[in-house]
Amino acid sequence: MKKILITGGAGFIGSHVVRLFVNSYPQYKIYNLDKLTYAGNLRNLEDIQGAANYEFIKADIADRDQITGLFKTHGFDSVIHLAAESHVDRSISNPLEFLRTNIVGTVNLLNACIETWADHFDGHLFYHVSTDEVYGSLHDDGFFLESTSYDPQSPYSASKAGSDHFVRAYGNTYGLPYVLTNCSNNYGPNQFPEKLIPLFINNIRNRKKLPVYGRGENIRDWLYVVDHARAIDLVFHKSQPGKTYNIGGFNEWKNLDLIRVLCDVMDEKLGNTPGASRELIEFVTDRKGHDFRYAIDANLIKEELGWEPSLQFEEGLSKTVDWYLQNQDWLSEVTSGGYLKYYETHYGSH
Ligand code: NAD
Ligand code: TYD
Repeated sequence: MKKILITGGAGFIGSHVVRLFVNSYPQYKIYNLDKLTYAGNLRNLEDIQGAANYEFIKADIADRDQITGLFKTHGFDSVIHLAAESHVDRSISNPLEFLRTNIVGTVNLLNACIETWADHFDGHLFYHVSTDEVYGSLHDDGFFLESTSYDPQSPYSASKAGSDHFVRAYGNTYGLPYVLTNCSNNYGPNQFPEKLIPLFINNIRNRKKLPVYGRGENIRDWLYVVDHARAIDLVFHKSQPGKTYNIGGFNEWKNLDLIRVLCDVMDEKLGNTPGASRELIEFVTDRKGHDFRYAIDANLIKEELGWEPSLQFEEGLSKTVDWYLQNQDWLSEVTSGGYLKYYETHYGSH
């Protein structure tokens, strides 16, 4: 049985990747390694937690001894690395935590891979999941290509760019087989309500103000999370080692336009008077160093691997709102902090 280590599997995107792999590949043993920071929630994986080919490991990627020991015990064959500190606003107030997890943690994993796989790299793969934010900020025109120079502008994107450079350096220096993908903004079920879409869904649900940074003119390219997980599956199985692919939704939205659509969808689903939620919009002080526009050219992965987003944005947004409304207990538990006790209750204290 091939042993696949997925890091950050209790988080937003990681939980969708873990579910897809556990359900699609009974011939693989899937190990989900996660520190369970505030962003990690094992409730995201309740449906597969008893699967025969699944195991959860609570560990910190920045703890070198712990990671080395786990590779010795389990001898993982391949790694899909998603664990990270992922929120730009938190990186502005606590950059060191981003350096620790995103750079030191990634290098610990890379070292464990080259030690465990030694010079016998055949059949092994280190898959590094990264972001389009490493390319910096676009003006009104143009798109990020795989060949676009790195120009990270926030502590978050700088730490992700650093981790990307280390992955490629290990490929070049030690011959480590790797693949790397840079994806645009994800949305969908199980996203922590600090990011724009789930935060605003939760605020509308509670009739709280919607804090729009600046004038709401910044632009993001949105992709439904399950489509990202499908792309990761495809790249993991079909890509040549050493390749990079950009992944995006072909779906750019100015923040304020997106927020207005979200308000209208919520009003319709909640039976509110049309326009009621738009009244909650409040313009607040802009994020420091706020990147203006991200836009991915995802044609390479489309042409070489045949990947395309499966959902139109309107459909994805409607499904997303339905999920949060049907899982209000998930949302309440996350906002109250109750989910933090889940691991202790289900796995005992370690
Ligand atoms: P998330 O914040 O929802 O989840 C991150 C997970 O990593 C959590 O479960 C957390 O507990 C775990 N983690 C954090 N520090 C850890 C550590 N030191 N050791 C072990 N586990 C740790 O993040 P996400 O949005 O699911 O993003 C996952 C990955 O995808 C990240 O690498 C991120 O940079 C990348 N990415 C995210 C987006 C997006 O829109 N969310 C877009 C492109 C790329
Ligand atoms: P976010 O979800 O934090 O993703 P990222 O910054 O990684 O793109 O934010 C998406 C956009 O929404 C970004 O331009 C910042 C903006 N934003 C707000 O206007 N208000 C908010 O409360 C948040 C969290 C984000």
